[in-house]
Amino acid sequence: MTRKLFVTTALPYANAPFHIGHMMEYIQADIWVRFQRLIGHEVNFVCADDAHGAPIMIAAEKAGKTPQAFVAEIAAGRKPYLDGFHIAFDNWHSTDAPENHALAQDIYRALRDNDLVATRTIEQFFDPLKNMFLPDRYIKGECPKCGTKDQYGDNCENCGAVYAPTELKNPYSALSGAVPVLKSSEHFFFKLSDARCVEFLEAWTQDGKLQPEVANKVKEWFVKGNDGDDSKPGGLADWDISRDAPYFGIQIPDAPGKYFYVWLDAPVGYLASLKHLLDQRGVDFDAYLADPELEQIHFIGKDIVTFHTLFWPAMLKFSGRKVPDRIFVHGFITVSGEKMSKSRGTGISPLRYLEIGLNPEWLRYYIAAKLNSHVEDIDFNAEDFVARINADLVGKYINIASRAAGFLNKRFAGHLSADIGVEGRVLLDALRAHQGTVAQLYEEREFGKVLREIMALADRVNGYVDQHKPWELAKQAGQDTVLHDVCSVCIEAFRLLTIYLKPVLPALAAQVEAFLHVEPLVFADASRAIGGHKIGEYKHLMQRIDPKAMDALFEPPAAPAVLPGGEALAPEIGIDDFAKIDLRIAKIVEAKRVDGSSKLLQLTLDVGEGRLRNVFSGIQSAYAPEDLVGKLTVVVANLAPRKMKFGLSEGMVLAASHADEKAQPGLYVLEPWPGATPGLRVR
Ligand code: MSP
Ligand code: ZN
Repeated sequence: MTRKLFVTTALPYANAPFHIGHMMEYIQADIWVRFQRLIGHEVNFVCADDAHGAPIMIAAEKAGKTPQAFVAEIAAGRKPYLDGFHIAFDNWHSTDAPENHALAQDIYRALRDNDLVATRTIEQFFDPLKNMFLPDRYIKGECPKCGTKDQYGDNCENCGAVYAPTELKNPYSALSGAVPVLKSSEHFFFKLSDARCVEFLEAWTQDGKLQPEVANKVKEWFVKGNDGDDSKPGGLADWDISRDAPYFGIQIPDAPGKYFYVWLDAPVGYLASLKHLLDQRGVDFDAYLADPELEQIHFIGKDIVTFHTLFWPAMLKFSGRKVPDRIFVHGFITVSGEKMSKSRGTGISPLRYLEIGLNPEWLRYYIAAKLNSHVEDIDFNAEDFVARINADLVGKYINIASRAAGFLNKRFAGHLSADIGVEGRVLLDALRAHQGTVAQLYEEREFGKVLREIMALADRVNGYVDQHKPWELAKQAGQDTVLHDVCSVCIEAFRLLTIYLKPVLPALAAQVEAFLHVEPLVFADASRAIGGHKIGEYKHLMQRIDPKAMDALFEPPAAPAVLPGGEALAPEIGIDDFAKIDLRIAKIVEAKRVDGSSKLLQLTLDVGEGRLRNVFSGIQSAYAPEDLVGKLTVVVANLAPRKMKFGLSEGMVLAASHADEKAQPGLYVLEPWPGATPGLRVR
């Protein structure tokens, strides 16, 4: 029976290009989808950009773009990655597309009609300068436990404490530096604690559709009191699904100024992308989804399990829709043992991989070789990568064709022998007999196992070649028939192995099909024999990797530019980092030498505060005190006062200099253009 499959991968945030973690997820899902198609099932495989949310809105603002233009630019960069690694999505869409707005609002209305939406007034930090409520990660302050400065609103990087942003000491907005104020606002909640939800989810998460380790983890969330509220039966807390304007998202119906929290509309994007695809094909989306035969399957990483095992199925169920059939959770990929950072991505860039000419199918093969059906992390290791490709993929599999094809072409005009004899048939039948196991392992996402299985078959074929030594048969008189049979067995074995590897190596399989002069291979072709068939000219199918080529992949990014001052550019900062420095115009009211110092001048500054500041500045070598008096300059006004041998210094005057002042003297105090007055902020 033909299965009908609707398969997705997680929708990547549209604020950055793909990293290797994304590619790993797409490769895993793509292999599974290709396998399903090769055994005759129908698959719609879709994805989309996850466009909404505060971080994207803020990133767009920083880039001086509208959020729409910002995400469109990211979306425009997706194709080279997807094409480059042969990811066969049927559609790529966006959660900001009209289909998603409509579907998210429909689902919400259904939940509301089902009495599963509640409103509650909550207090949250609000940035009075930016005029917006601050998501936790944009509030910083001192850790309430250990006092470490500049900690995020939800947990402390120093002591690991977890807290609410309102518990931070001396909180400030990471966006503007302003002191946030508590402000109340009405929020919309999805009543996950409702007995109907709890009952449904408890059953749905434990009926075998989740991997055992995922189901066990999810079980803990249902323990009473898990949400900090002992009065509720289920352990599930209601889910805050609204955000106040300004927000880049989808408006909540009948609630002006309120938007869906990004995670409400993000998974709806799965449906929106599918709808967009089916609309184009003229297929009825609602009917397609209503088909009880349809299987809905989501591939995701381990960090977003809650959203896909609680919120999303409950949203679907209680809006009267089809619920997911399987959630396939994978672990994370690290590079050379290092976790990739959210901000820097990872040690290797997928585009760079392609640009330096590495074969995309090497990565597909390598990642597949490391994957299994469990939530385990995997590591990309360069030596291991080279070894697996060269020793297994090329050394075992490609080798079979290259050892046999030349003789067939030269001596037998490319014709395979019609009857290969008993020994050859036994070998090929053994290879064919593995079709069921191979298929089952693909189905179970045991890709590492399936490749080991296929390579063990390749070993057997190579053993057969080593035993019969076609290169020697070729030199002996009267051995033509044997040579013909042996080489024919090799090519037929190679065709079988190609079928088994095709989900992982689609482009290589296409090359092999061209070489063998056969129609696109599917799994059923493994049961057929192609005796007597005429193959084409053998061209090199795949090279070994030169280990040196891997160096280019790991090359550190180009060194930062060294400017004329002899100093490399400091690491990039955000506008919020800069905003922390309060620069002001200051008038030098008085300037004098400091007894006992050959470097310092003592300046008395008017920063427009109705009082004067005392600042020591190391500019004696460049300026006579009397030349400075009356001039305007720029001072760091919020620098913590520093107690020096000669007194308290309450700020720092800005001056330009070379990196090595001794080698290249010269010191130039900054002076504003005419018209500036003391106290004006420099920004
Ligand atoms: N936008 C959300 C998903 C919304 S789904 C309705 C999101 N985006 S993401 O870009 O951060 O991650 C997209 C997918 O990539 C997730 O499944 C995530 O687990 C996966 N990965 C992110 N880093 C990864 C690795 N280092 N390794 C493997 N997968 C990783 O989450
Ligand atoms: Zn702390």
